Amino acid sequence: MAARYNAETKTFILETADSSYIMKVSRYGNLLHMYYGSRIPDEDLDYLLTFHDRGFSPNPNEAGNDRTFSLDFLPQEFSGGRNGDYRSPSLELVWGEGGSAFCGKVAGYEIKAGAGRISGMPGLRELPQEQVHTLEIRLADPVSRVEAVLSYTVFEEKNVIARTVRLENRGEKAVRLERLMSATIDFQNSDYDLICFPGRHAMEREFRRIPVSEGIHSIGSSRGTSSHQYNPFLIVCGKNCGEDQGQCWGISLMYSGSFLIEAEKDQYSQLRLNAGINPAGFSWLLEPGEEFQAPQAVLAWSGSGLTRLSHIYHRIFRENLCRSPFRRKARPVLLNSWEAAYFDFDEEKILTIAREAAHMGAEMFVLDDGWFGKRDDDSTGLGDWTVNRKKIGSGIQGLSQKIHAMGMQFGLWVEPEMVSEDSELYRRHPDWCLREPGRPAVRGRYQLVLDLSRRDVCEYLIESMNSLLESAQIEYVKWDMNRSLTEAWSDLLSAERQGEVLHRYVLGLYYVMEQVILKHPDIIFCGCSGGGGRFDPAMLYYQPQIWCSDNTDAINRLKIQYGTSFAYPLSCMESHVSICPNHITGRSVPLSTRGIVAMDGVFGFELDPLKLTSEEKEACRQQVDFYKKYSKVILDGDYYRLTSPYENPYFTAWQQVSQDQKKSLVSIVVTDREGNGPQRFVKLKGLNKDGFYRIEGWKGKYSGNLLMNAGIPVPWELKEYEGIQLRLRMI
Ligand code: GLA
Repeated sequence: MAARYNAETKTFILETADSSYIMKVSRYGNLLHMYYGSRIPDEDLDYLLTFHDRGFSPNPNEAGNDRTFSLDFLPQEFSGGRNGDYRSPSLELVWGEGGSAFCGKVAGYEIKAGAGRISGMPGLRELPQEQVHTLEIRLADPVSRVEAVLSYTVFEEKNVIARTVRLENRGEKAVRLERLMSATIDFQNSDYDLICFPGRHAMEREFRRIPVSEGIHSIGSSRGTSSHQYNPFLIVCGKNCGEDQGQCWGISLMYSGSFLIEAEKDQYSQLRLNAGINPAGFSWLLEPGEEFQAPQAVLAWSGSGLTRLSHIYHRIFRENLCRSPFRRKARPVLLNSWEAAYFDFDEEKILTIAREAAHMGAEMFVLDDGWFGKRDDDSTGLGDWTVNRKKIGSGIQGLSQKIHAMGMQFGLWVEPEMVSEDSELYRRHPDWCLREPGRPAVRGRYQLVLDLSRRDVCEYLIESMNSLLESAQIEYVKWDMNRSLTEAWSDLLSAERQGEVLHRYVLGLYYVMEQVILKHPDIIFCGCSGGGGRFDPAMLYYQPQIWCSDNTDAINRLKIQYGTSFAYPLSCMESHVSICPNHITGRSVPLSTRGIVAMDGVFGFELDPLKLTSEEKEACRQQVDFYKKYSKVILDGDYYRLTSPYENPYFTAWQQVSQDQKKSLVSIVVTDREGNGPQRFVKLKGLNKDGFYRIEGWKGKYSGNLLMNAGIPVPWELKEYEGIQLRLRMI
């Protein structure tokens, strides 16, 4: 059984195919973390805990005169505050007349089949017939009468453990919750590196590797969204860990709002990880009998490097996360109107672009921003989700019919969470946006944020989105969100509950998505927040794909997509070919290279075909054909980062290999070229070492072993920014 309790050693054991996660009940009932790593047969790990009299490390009262027992250094599963552990806690609360200590002791446990459901929030789900068990351990504190139920869902064969916590107020008075981490993991040493993915608008998820050092290294967001600035994903790895060797642990938080992930090196060189809702600006009043649910944290361990860790996340996110049937289906190649027309269009122009898109082989046309209300630029119209007939005379239904008559599907852009001050919605309901009383609201991209912590606002959005989606044949929706939240004040909540607004906003958003997106399983929803500003697993629960970045420069995209690939599969990364010089960077890159880079994900176009020559249009058509032939290998295959764009200035290479290892696609883009430089080689990965492969257009056949060990020469003729795709087939 993947989860069990050994009553003799008082040990909880969680097992996946390759890893063990072990906890122990201390002699005083505390839940201690014993081990997370390579799978082991042992059930008694007591020898790993050493007890010493440590100065200034307090001893719980129940330890009597034993000065060697202190929560200040023992590895724990869930750390309450004010109990002698000075590291960053899992929980902070105020109960009764002002008490703040939480001394939760193990009070029971339960093991259930299946993953269970997390109330009001996304979570991983088991597939039919999949071996999944959930262990719940109850920590009770009889004084505060608060209980924490720690939950561990073990996806045995997928090597994943999903953790969450539910807090219950069993007392007679309200409790104010000020911090609740979804997962705390203590390591007894800290000789590790951290890998995180910082960024900014138009340059998301850069790769950074830094040593664990004294103090607390924290990443997170206070923007009300998971943000461009940090992704809710962190890797801890051994110093020798690389793509193909070494131990590493991943923690991915399934949350789309303000989050915090901390790595703390303590006085004894131990490491504590914490991940959860960002406590800054958060509080929650828990009335007697009420519960608070933390979002899920998805943990994975790899003993053979970062590629393996990525494969674990890719697989579980591909198979156990998204509710849309499109997670398993081919996605149509689309052309999006944004970089083609911005706000400057009428129906005639849109139809001309669409006609050309159809000739280029696009299977879907997506009308981006600017079709509704009085929206001629980004200062007006948000909230008024009715078509602007001055621009689109035949309305959405008429336009959709015309696009379908061209043989394409039709998609539409919306930004439901926002309102422009110059809109009918705002004039009707000025109180529906987030702002503090007596203070004019902070604007972002001219717009204000609707208060999704209010049920009436959510119901309005559900109604208006659902009637829009039912008003015409719409097969794709780009759900955008174009600013960070600032004020966290809602008119409908009492003063003592204003700390709940940011989290209630996220819960409101999930509710709206549940009622709109999950009610339309035939529509592909694509997440977006100024590109990849809300690229998190919770969004992927509702939407099979997310627009990776507003930056479509192929060379910048090498880094953005590289960073994104550590946690997220290609099947959720939307990537498009755009026009050159690039609208953001001004760089020009050959069209073929733009195609190669855009095929590192869900492929499409973001350009005005009228700006292309007929040869270029023909080249685009060939890209579509190529992509459709290889989309299964690209989206469902195993992904290998062959080089790092941060370490190799000369070229970036990556590879997809079909699950049966029979087909593979190798992509190489030259990023710098020196005069008369050395011949460079790239070693392939993931092939069948005993199989023989042909590379299309090359003479000979080569063993997988040879290609993986000696590699292939990077074609000499490739100039700066040129690229190549090599197709391998096992014979
Ligand atoms: C955001 C998106 C873009 C585009 C614009 C429209 O920035 O990321 O792709 O849809 O909004 O306003």
